[in-house]
Amino acid sequence: MIHYKSLENTDEKIILETHNNAFSDYQVQMNWTLPQFQNINKQRGVRYDLSIGAFDDDKLVGFIINGAGDWNNKPTVYDCGTGIIKEYRHTGIGTEILLRLITLLRDMGIFQYLLEVIKTNENAYQLYLKQGFEIIREFDCAVAEIARIKKKIEERKEDIQIILNDKDFEICEITQPNWDIYKKFWDKPPSWQNSIQSIERNREVLAILGINHKGTPVGYAAFDPRNAGIAQFAIHPEYRRRKLGIVLLEQIIMRAPTAKRVSIINIDKRLSSFIGFYENLGFKLFAEQYEMMKII
Ligand SMILES: CC(C)(COP(=O)(O)OP(=O)(O)OC[C@H]1O[C@@H](n2cnc3c(N)ncnc32)[C@H](O)[C@@H]1OP(=O)(O)O)[C@@H](O)C(=O)NCCC(=O)NCCS
Repeated sequence: MIHYKSLENTDEKIILETHNNAFSDYQVQMNWTLPQFQNINKQRGVRYDLSIGAFDDDKLVGFIINGAGDWNNKPTVYDCGTGIIKEYRHTGIGTEILLRLITLLRDMGIFQYLLEVIKTNENAYQLYLKQGFEIIREFDCAVAEIARIKKKIEERKEDIQIILNDKDFEICEITQPNWDIYKKFWDKPPSWQNSIQSIERNREVLAILGINHKGTPVGYAAFDPRNAGIAQFAIHPEYRRRKLGIVLLEQIIMRAPTAKRVSIINIDKRLSSFIGFYENLGFKLFAEQYEMMKII
């Protein structure tokens, strides 16, 4: 008999075990270690009291793990992962967890429910559609071998050297980001997991690099030096197409010495500049996602 309860009293190791089991046949590798799981959850703002598990007797067989924060200035819950282990799929567990969560959130006065789903994950996409989630945006996820990016950098070595030799430009490590300035460089806002709130939740791990021109910020990147995962990346509109983006990318690679690849998750498909940038610098698309929202 399946029963449902919040995950706040379930050992995180058990949740991870079920997570890795449920995602073992997923399009994207998600076999995480406990520290990786905890770090990702921290960045996304996971709240186990707002997350529900399905249990067969004592065994956790399915879950929706949620994070909480603000989105467009409104309290919002974000689905960080929906997983049902193989033998329990197509039995209505996903729908049941979602319905219970919607009731819980409504009772708590949280009226926005946000998520991302990989386009090819038809089961999950259909579940969300049926429950009234609507597509807000479409994202690309791209990755490149560092060796490949280095080749692209090499091709533009002379232009890059001119910037590096120009005393008016400086690259600096940012400890106190001025988000109000950086936001002005965006053509579109980042997704939940790359948002300012998410970065701030994981500030002791993530690094921020800025480029200044005559002391004024003209570009920045927020990234994870452990794996060269880029969360935010933007150049002031008036300074674009001057190779500052490449300079920043080179600096990220230098500061992520153990990484073999650079990845960028959730690039808004309307960001033609960013798409041109990643395509021309040797990145390959590895997944496409829908951002979906339900107003509860
Ligand atoms: C993507 C972005 C960072 C690129 O910065 P940039 O400094 O202009 O890029 P560079 O000059 O270093 O260009 C590097 C290469 O990328 C490609 N590229 C850059 N902009 C491009 C564009 N608009 N169209 C097509 N290709 C482009 C080019 O191949 C270029 O090399 P080349 O000129 O030698 O061919 C910048 O356009 C930007 O900030 N866009 C908005 C990003 C945003 O909204 N972020 C918020 C969410 S985090």
